Amino acid sequence: MAKRNITDPVLLEKFNELERKNLEALQGGGEKRIEQQHAKGKLTARERIHLLVDEGSFEELGKFVMHRSKDFGLDKEYYLGDGVITGYGTINGRLVYVFSQDFTVFGGSLSETHAEKIVKIMDLAMKNGAPIIGLNDSGGARIQEGVVSLGGYADIFYRNTLASGVIPQISAIMGPCAGGAVYSPAITDFIFMVENTSFMFVTGPNVVKTVTHENVTAEELGGAIAHSSKSGVTHFACANEAECIAQIKTILSYMPQNCEDEAPRMPYTPADERRPALNSVIPANPNQPYDMREVINGVVDEGSFFEVHKNFAENIVVGFARIAGRSIGVVGNQPASLAGVLDIHSSIKGARFVRFCDCFNIPLLVFEDVPGFLPGTDQEWNAIITNGAKLLFAFSEATVPRVTVITRKAYGGAYDVMNSKHIGADMNYAWPTAEIAVMGAKGAAEIIFKKEISESADPQAKLNEKVDEYTRKFANPYRAAHRGYIDEVIYPDQTREKLIRAFQMLENKVAKLPKKKHGNIPL
Ligand code: HXC
Repeated sequence: MAKRNITDPVLLEKFNELERKNLEALQGGGEKRIEQQHAKGKLTARERIHLLVDEGSFEELGKFVMHRSKDFGLDKEYYLGDGVITGYGTINGRLVYVFSQDFTVFGGSLSETHAEKIVKIMDLAMKNGAPIIGLNDSGGARIQEGVVSLGGYADIFYRNTLASGVIPQISAIMGPCAGGAVYSPAITDFIFMVENTSFMFVTGPNVVKTVTHENVTAEELGGAIAHSSKSGVTHFACANEAECIAQIKTILSYMPQNCEDEAPRMPYTPADERRPALNSVIPANPNQPYDMREVINGVVDEGSFFEVHKNFAENIVVGFARIAGRSIGVVGNQPASLAGVLDIHSSIKGARFVRFCDCFNIPLLVFEDVPGFLPGTDQEWNAIITNGAKLLFAFSEATVPRVTVITRKAYGGAYDVMNSKHIGADMNYAWPTAEIAVMGAKGAAEIIFKKEISESADPQAKLNEKVDEYTRKFANPYRAAHRGYIDEVIYPDQTREKLIRAFQMLENKVAKLPKKKHGNIPL
C-alpha cells in the first residue's frame, strides 16, 4: 500500500483487505464465466458501463453487497455485488444512474439484494431528477430464493411506474430477459435490443411448444428483429452492443434530465433557411408515394433526425430532431408505406411517442399526409376504434408547443387526429399541394352524386365531371384556410424558416389541463 503511505502493519492489513475485496468484486463470477460471456459475443456488465459513461465518471454503489440466501447450497456461494453493478456517472457531462446485470454471477438472476441495489439507485434517480438506464442480462428471478425474488421484481416495477413521466427511463436488453422480468423494461420509455444475443418473452420456446405446439427458436420468438418489427416491444434493434450503447447516448442528448427540465440546446447560427429542394418532393400525381423522411430531413437541422421505432408500423415515422438547435419530436405519416394510412400499430406507435415528448417538454412537429384510417375486419375486430383513439387522446392532451404541416392529404377523421387546430395544435401550416376534405374526390363523388351519375346517359363521364368538381372545391388547403383552421398556406421551401419562427414564438407557451387525478386514455 505504498501509494497510500501506509507502513503501520495493523493499518496496512486493513487497507489490504479493502484492496482484495475490490479486486474480488471486479472478477464477477470469475475468469471462466467472463470468457464464456465474451465467447457469446457479449461484453461484461462492467465493460458495458465503461462504454456507456464518460471516462472516469462512474461511481459504484453497493460493490460488496452479498445475497442472504441459505438454501440450495447458496450458503457457500457468494459473489461480491450479487450480480448487478449499480451507480451513477455522466454521459456527455450529464448525470445518469445505471444498473448493469452481471450474467457471470448466477446468470445475472435477480435476488432480494440484487433488487435492493437497483431500487436504491432508482430512488436516487428520482430524488435527484436524472435518467436511469438499465442494462439487462439476466436469467430472471433467482430460482433458489423463490417469492423473495418476485417481491424484488415488484419493488422495481412499482418504481418504474412512479418514475414514468418524471425521469427518462431507458432499457437495453443485452442477453436473456424472460418471464415477468420483461415488465420492467416494458414500463420504461425506450427499449433497445441487440440482434442475436438478446431475447425477451413472457414464456420461452419450450413452454410455447408444450402449450401451442409451435416450433420456434428464442430468436424468432423474442429476438431483436421480432420485437422491433412484429410486436413493436423494442424501439431499436442494434447490430451489436457497442452500437446499442452509442444509440443510448444519442437518444439521451435529445431529452431533458427530468420533467421539470428542458432538453439541452445545440449551438445554432441563423443562416439562409430556404430549402428549394422541398418544392419538388410531392409528386404531381396525388396517388404517387414519396418518402416523408425527405421532408423531415429537409426541414430539421442537418443530420439531426434520429428515428425511433423504425422497423415497426412503417406507415408512420417518429423520431427526435432539432430545429435551430432545439430538441423536437417529429411525427409524420409515411406515404411510402400503405399510403400513410393510420392503422392500429401506427396509432399506438404515434401515441406513445407523443406522450413521451409531452412528458418531457419536447415540442411536437407533425407532417401530415394521411388518406384516413385503414378499413377492414382485421382492423375493426382488433379495435382500431380504441387504438386510433389513443393517438387522438395523446395529441389532445399534449400541452407542449405543437405545430402541424399538411403536405398533401388530410382526409376524414385522420385530419382531426393528426394534430389539427381543433384538438389544440398551436400553428397549422399547409403546402399548396394539401387536400383537406372528408374523403378522396372519387369516393365523395360516388356517394353524393350517386343518383345523378346513375341516371346519366354516360355515367363514367358524369362521374369524372363530378370528381373534377369535388377536387376543385375541396382537394386544396383553401377551404380550411378560409376558416382559419390553417394559419398559413406556405411554399415548401419556406417551411424551415416558418417552423424556426413558430417554435421560437411558442417557446414560453403555458397550457394547463383541467385539474384531475389523471386522464383515462383508451387502453
Ligand atoms: C439462478 C440461474 C438462473 C436463475 C441462470 N442461472 N438462470 N441461477 N436463478 N434464474 C445460472 C445457471 O445455473 C448457471 O450457473 C448460470 O446462471 C448460467 O446459466 P446457463 O444456463 O449455463 O446459461 P445459458 O445456457 O446461456 O442459458 C441462460 C438461460 C438459462 C436461458 C437464462 O439459464 C435459463 O433458462 N435460466 C432459467 C430462466 C428462468 O426460468 N428464470 C425464471 C423465470 S421466471 P453456473 O453456476 O453453471 O454458471 C421469472 C419470474 C420473474 O423470472 C417474475 C417477475 C414478476
